[in-house]
Amino acid sequence: MAASSSSVAGLVFTVRRKTPELVTPAKPTPREYKLLSDIDDQEGLRFHIPGIYFYRKDESTSMEAAGGDRDPVKVIREAIAKTLVWYYPFAGRLRELESGAAGRKLMVDCTGEGVLFVEADADVTLDQFGDALQPPFPCLDKLLYDVPGSNGLLDCPLLLIQVTRLRCGGFIVALRNNHTVCDVAGIVQFMKAVGEIARGADSISVQPVWQRELLSARDPPNVTCTHHEYDDLVLDTKGTIIPPLQDDHDMAHRSFFFGHKQVSALRKFVNPPHLQHKCSTFDVLTACLWRCRTIALQPNPEDEVRIMCIVNARGKFNPPLPVGYYGNAIAYPVAITTAGELCRNPLGYAVELVRKAKSDVTEEYMRSVADLMVIKGRPHFTVARTFLVSDLTRAGLRDVDFGWGKAVYAGPTHRGVGSTFYIPFTNKEGESGIVVPLKLPGPAMDRFMIQLETMLDSQPTYNIAKTSFGSTVSQGLSEPVYAHLNC
Ligand SMILES: *[C@@H]1O[C@H](CO)[C@@H](O)[C@H](O)[C@H]1NC(C)=O
Ligand SMILES: *[C@@H]1O[C@H](CO)[C@@H](O)[C@H](O)[C@H]1NC(C)=O
Repeated sequence: MAASSSSVAGLVFTVRRKTPELVTPAKPTPREYKLLSDIDDQEGLRFHIPGIYFYRKDESTSMEAAGGDRDPVKVIREAIAKTLVWYYPFAGRLRELESGAAGRKLMVDCTGEGVLFVEADADVTLDQFGDALQPPFPCLDKLLYDVPGSNGLLDCPLLLIQVTRLRCGGFIVALRNNHTVCDVAGIVQFMKAVGEIARGADSISVQPVWQRELLSARDPPNVTCTHHEYDDLVLDTKGTIIPPLQDDHDMAHRSFFFGHKQVSALRKFVNPPHLQHKCSTFDVLTACLWRCRTIALQPNPEDEVRIMCIVNARGKFNPPLPVGYYGNAIAYPVAITTAGELCRNPLGYAVELVRKAKSDVTEEYMRSVADLMVIKGRPHFTVARTFLVSDLTRAGLRDVDFGWGKAVYAGPTHRGVGSTFYIPFTNKEGESGIVVPLKLPGPAMDRFMIQLETMLDSQPTYNIAKTSFGSTVSQGLSEPVYAHLNC
C-alpha cells in the first residue's frame, strides 16, 4: 500500500518578480501602540510562519465578477489594502519594551507603513506540479521571495505576501507572517476577510478583536500548572527526536497520505480495543507516527521521549474568547515517557498519552502559561526529544477564496520550526484525507516507512509487546537494536 509520494525533485521553473512594494491601508487608520499578550509574546513564536495557497483558473461563467480577465494580483492587492483598514495592526511594526518586570514585552506600533507585497509570474502550469501539490514544494524560495531585510528584525513588515500568476491562469498566494502577532486561526481569519473583499463585499463578516489583555499575565503572576513544555532541557546532541532545524541537506522529506482506509487500518492496532472507538483520528495518527518515528530514530530505550500537541485553546475559556480574536491562543501541552516504554507497550499506551496531553489545556492552564512567560523571561518551548504535531484539518485554510473558488492546496510550505502538520488534502483520486509532511535523516526515513507500511499492510496480532531491545551496554556508544518490531 503506497501511503507516500515523493517530491517532484525534477520540476524547475522560473519566476519573474516585480520590485517588492508596501501595501498600506486604503484609508487612514489609528496611530497607536497595541500590546501583545503574554501568550503571543514567547520566544518560540518569534519567527515567521509560511503558508501557501494554490488556485485554479476560474472556468465558471456563473461567477460574473471572476469572469475571464480578472487579474489575481490586482484583485488581491486591492483587497489587502481595504482589509488592512480593519486589521491595521498588521500594517504596523513590532517594538520591544525593555523596562519593567515583564521585560522584553512586545507591542505593535500601528504606523500604517504597510505589508510587503510581491507580484510575480511563473512559467509553469498548475498541472505541471502534478503530485507536488503538497510539501515539499519545488522552487519554494521563488514562490515566497525572502525580500532582503524583511526577515528578522523588529522594524520589519509583519506580513509578506507574494501572488504568482501561473501560465495556465491559475495562481499561487504565498505568505509569511510573524507568529507573535497571530496564530494559524488568526491568519486564516484575516485571509478569509481579504477573500470576502476580493469577492466584492463592502465589509467583512468577522470583525477582528484585539483585546490581547485577555491573555495577559495575572498580577501577581502565579504558575499554577505543570509546564514540562518549558523545561530547560539540553538539546539532544544526536539530534534524534527533532532533527536539527537548520540543515536540510541530509534530510529526507516525504509526505504521507492518510485517507479513511489508512486511518481504519491504523485504528485496528489500538489496544485495548475499547479505546478504538473512544479515540479520534488525531489520536490514532499521532500515536502511530510518534511510535514509528521513535523506532526509526533508534534512541536508547531509556531515553526520554515527548509528544507535544499544539492545541487551539479558544474554546477552553469561560466565557470563550471573543469571536474574531486573532492573537495566539495556542498551547503546547506535552506528555513524557521513555523510548522503551513507548515502543514496548501496546499502541493504546501512546494513544492515552496523546489524549492526556491534549486534556491538560484549560483556561487556568493558559493563565498559568502567561504567568510563566513573565516569571521565566519568555522561554522557548522545549523541542529536544519531542515529536511536535499541529493539526490543521479544521483550520479552514482551503476555504480562503478570492473569487476563484476554494484553494486546491492550502497549508504550510514545509515543516516549519520542527512541527509536523496534519493538512487537509484531496488526492488525485478525489479522496479526502490528511497529508503529513515529514522530514527525517535518510536512513531513519527508510526505517520509518517500513514501520508504517507494516502497520498499514498487516493485521494486528495483539501481540504488540514484542519489541525487544538489543545491547545498550555502553549508553550512546553502541546503537540499540530494535529487533522483531511487530508494531
Ligand atoms: C518576529 O518578531 C519578533 C519580535 O519583534 C522578532 O524578534 C523576530 O525576529 C521576528 N521574526 C521575523 C522572522 O521577522
Ligand atoms: C498561587 O496560586 C495558589 C493556588 O491557587 C494559591 O494557593 C497561592 O496563594 C497563589 N499565590 C499567589 C502569590 O497569588
